[in-house]
Amino acid sequence: MAKKLLFLLDTDPVPSVFDTVVGYDGGADRVIGYGGVTPENALALVDGTIYTRGSKEKQFTAIFVGGGSMTAGEAVFEAVKKRFFANFRVSAMLDSNGSNTTAAAGVALLAKAKPLAGKKAVVLAGTGPVGMRAAAMLNIEGAEVAITSRSKQRAEAAAKAIKDRFGFRPAPIEAFDNAARAAAVEGAEVIFAAGAIGIPLLDEKDWQNDPKIELIADCNAQPALGIGGVEATDKAKERHGKTVIGALGLGGLKLKLHRACIGQLFESSDQVFDAENIYAQAKILA
Ligand SMILES: NC(=O)c1ccc[n+]([C@@H]2O[C@H](COP(=O)([O-])OP(=O)(O)OC[C@H]3O[C@@H](n4cnc5c(N)ncnc54)[C@H](OP(=O)(O)O)[C@@H]3O)[C@@H](O)[C@H]2O)c1
Repeated sequence: MAKKLLFLLDTDPVPSVFDTVVGYDGGADRVIGYGGVTPENALALVDGTIYTRGSKEKQFTAIFVGGGSMTAGEAVFEAVKKRFFANFRVSAMLDSNGSNTTAAAGVALLAKAKPLAGKKAVVLAGTGPVGMRAAAMLNIEGAEVAITSRSKQRAEAAAKAIKDRFGFRPAPIEAFDNAARAAAVEGAEVIFAAGAIGIPLLDEKDWQNDPKIELIADCNAQPALGIGGVEATDKAKERHGKTVIGALGLGGLKLKLHRACIGQLFESSDQVFDAENIYAQAKILA
């Protein structure tokens, strides 16, 4: 049988070790990483995947797009898909910084705990890859979504990028520090923290006595955690009457989902994994 080859097209200068390991754990025989990938230089890489194997063996070649920027990842993913034609295609997945799989795991666990439709949800630091995808998935569940950023300009740029991709615009909120983020979550039922690793975003005192807040998820696994009073291992844990999910609590599902998607890439040559179908799979696995 032909070897299962996963080509990791990373928009960062150095291809991700995390995505390489999960590529192997998901079933690839070989993961080949390229850094500094752009929509322009991706084309020759895509050609190498689509012109090299016959129809029966093509399914054992797949593409994974990663990197730290959601907009850069989306641009490369679009260029990859556009290069395919007729049967000259391989399966492809977009997961910049674990955006789709992490957001999908977090939102699916929140939705499993309680229906989200009609609830107000605030994605703290919602301008990174995970936060932007979490906003989209909360919207899929029918929540009314806002995203915060330390900068008004970045909040608005992320809201526009989400609108361009998903057709809905989350409310952009400028919130420079924990006090401003505490004000931003007032009146919300759902908090999803998607801040950079090791960055605290909200203090325990700012959510523990708020009668409105029902659900909290925090993606940041490295101390200081994103939300004070949440333990990384919390998985639908009741704290102060709220259902709380920590980074490791959602991380198990994230990894399971990421591996499952990689495995499925090699089942045919026409699969495209992005937010909508990755989220649908997360709901099944959750
Ligand atoms: N649990 C898991 O399985 C798992 C998997 C993957 C990722 N993660 C975690 O998910 C989180 C989000 O990942 P990501 O790649 O989307 O994050 P990211 O792009 O590194 O950062 C997200 C946002 O955090 C904000 N930020 C950065 N520095 C800050 C500071 N000093 N103070 C306040 N805000 C700050 C920035 O927003 P503004 O500049 O707009 O304010 C940034 O856009 C990370 O903590 C990551 O480690 C968890």
